[in-house]
Amino acid sequence: MKFFIDTANLEQIKEAQALGVLDGVTTNPSLMAKEGITGAENILQHYLDICNAVDGDVSAEVIATDFEGMVQQGEELAALHPQIVVKLPMIADGVKACKYFSDKGIRTNVTLVFSAGQALLAAKAGATYVSPFLGRLDDISTDGLHLISEIRQIYDNYGFETQILSASVRNTMHVINCAKIGSDVMTGPLSSITGLLKHPLTDSGLAQFLADYSKGNQ
Ligand code: E4P
Repeated sequence: MKFFIDTANLEQIKEAQALGVLDGVTTNPSLMAKEGITGAENILQHYLDICNAVDGDVSAEVIATDFEGMVQQGEELAALHPQIVVKLPMIADGVKACKYFSDKGIRTNVTLVFSAGQALLAAKAGATYVSPFLGRLDDISTDGLHLISEIRQIYDNYGFETQILSASVRNTMHVINCAKIGSDVMTGPLSSITGLLKHPLTDSGLAQFLADYSKGNQ
């Protein structure tokens, strides 16, 4: 299972990378805005900075909503760095652009996926990754994890190679449940990764080991 961090914050990206378990980064226009990254040149430079900070895939989202615009922006993003994956919204022109890029061997991440039907379309268009937003489904009292299971079943039925990138992950239980279902990737905040470290028995056990060592080794 790949772990991506869902942020445009370079410090958090570097912290996750230093842990040694990071496989990539996902960004979106809201996350870039949150870091105060504005203007075409600054945005492209920030994507480069992220690519240089991690070893894995970096999803960079197009802003255009028409096919020609998505193709133009996606080609510019893909040319920026080999780690870039072009992120496209799940709308008709996004599906067309996904097929265009997949035919050209350019990797894609189809985002804003909220149904099994949308995930099926993304796979048929040759998406590298499909991003179902499980946290946002939970937010509206819908079972986000059920959607991940449905997509897993559909992709396995037909051998689709599109990787399920469970997105909008909010906590460690989301990560664990995605792993149980067989999600290929998860993307969430740094806390959803570092939270996996925590167990009170680990802390008390280590404190005891160190205390016992100290008794015999003054
Ligand atoms: C996915 O790639 C999105 O950037 C992200 O996971 C959305 O998460 P949110 O619902 O926490 O904004």
